[in-house]
Amino acid sequence: MLKGKSILLGVTGSVAAYKAIELIRLIKKEEASVRVIMTEASQRFITPLSAEIASGGHVYRDMFDPPLSHVALPATSDLLVVAPATANCIGKYANGIADDMLSTTMMAFQGKVIIAPAMNRRMYESPQVQKNIRYLESIGVIFVGPEKGELACGEEGIGRMTGINSIMEKIRAELTEQDLAGEQVLVTAGPTREYIDPIRYVSNRSSGKMGYAIAAVAKRRGAEVTLITGPSALTPPEGVEVVRVETAAEMHQAVMDNFPMSSIFVMSAAVSDFSPAKTESSKIEKPDTLTLSLQKTKDILEEACRLKKRPYSVGFSAETGFRLDRAKKKLTAKNIDMIIFNDVTKEGSGFDKDTNEVVILNKDKSGSIVELPLPIMSKENVAAMIFDRIRMYRDKTDNE
Ligand SMILES: Cc1cc2nc3c(=O)[nH]c(=O)nc-3n(C[C@H](O)[C@H](O)[C@H](O)COP(=O)(O)O)c2cc1C
Repeated sequence: MLKGKSILLGVTGSVAAYKAIELIRLIKKEEASVRVIMTEASQRFITPLSAEIASGGHVYRDMFDPPLSHVALPATSDLLVVAPATANCIGKYANGIADDMLSTTMMAFQGKVIIAPAMNRRMYESPQVQKNIRYLESIGVIFVGPEKGELACGEEGIGRMTGINSIMEKIRAELTEQDLAGEQVLVTAGPTREYIDPIRYVSNRSSGKMGYAIAAVAKRRGAEVTLITGPSALTPPEGVEVVRVETAAEMHQAVMDNFPMSSIFVMSAAVSDFSPAKTESSKIEKPDTLTLSLQKTKDILEEACRLKKRPYSVGFSAETGFRLDRAKKKLTAKNIDMIIFNDVTKEGSGFDKDTNEVVILNKDKSGSIVELPLPIMSKENVAAMIFDRIRMYRDKTDNE
């Protein structure tokens, strides 16, 4: 996601400084370069050597080593992140004080700045810190966190640096083109549960990973996102409206409620195709054998695609084997705009995996099916390819 980007990371004198090492690792994992500036106080908490090993480069600590690096670094960086940021650092930045390597670099940087404060609750709530934060926000500085919780000093309250994943998500969003701004994206994810009795249910192996990745990518690219999710252990992406459902009938209702307001609909949930014909109101005794009578649930995507005015609609076709023919049939028979084929028996594909290998199928203006086979990649990259493809083809088809 961050490939080729250059990030400047300032680390200041907070107990949370050790978390910067993990942040460096995650930024590098996404193939971005990270150059680290450490304040003098931060070096009491972690050694520059740790940051040097994690970043694979020189750690800047002294304004005079090398001279003018406070001007050269900002000129060649896409984003400046300060994590953790002390009350002192925030105060200096808000008041134009430039007396060390980090503060001079911050003053010389003209791009976007993300600050992740970390401090004691009373420091954070002080009128001085609050005034400085309000001022910096008014000039476009982006704050992420802090969070409430147990603080290093043993107190409870607000001031803990927000999680590394939230900081990463902010970095991705700031470095991503907002090409889905103005879109209302509706995504479904996860399995559904069809109850046999109050204790037992019929379900499937879906984890929700693909749908959650689609929601995260859409949000990052500037869309307003509603995520309708079946039971999933995953944490929904920040800033996404979440509708939790359990059964296929609840998912159907939630989709229909949100459908009219959406411009793009991605049906990635693995809705149970069948549900028990009858749900018992109390626990079924344990017989030697039990025969269940199942009935078909509503085909949400098919029903939605029958509506005259509808969003650009994307479905998934999870198959066992390379049955592209079945995906093509669904695309045409259900009048879907795009379908994502994946063979769940393939290594690294399908349920509960972080990667997927898919073929994107959609219709062009003449109604012919266009195929885009993709190599195995992360589910987030699959999501990005889906939105690229939607942007490329949507205007060439007519849903009205
Ligand atoms: C043990 C200890 C922990 C500290 N933790 C924090 C902290 O989490 N946040 C903060 O704003 N200041 C904290 N301070 C105070 C800063 O280290 C101090 O204000 C320092 O001057 C900050 O310098 P810098 O902003 O240049 O890194 C701590 C100080 C000590 C001794």
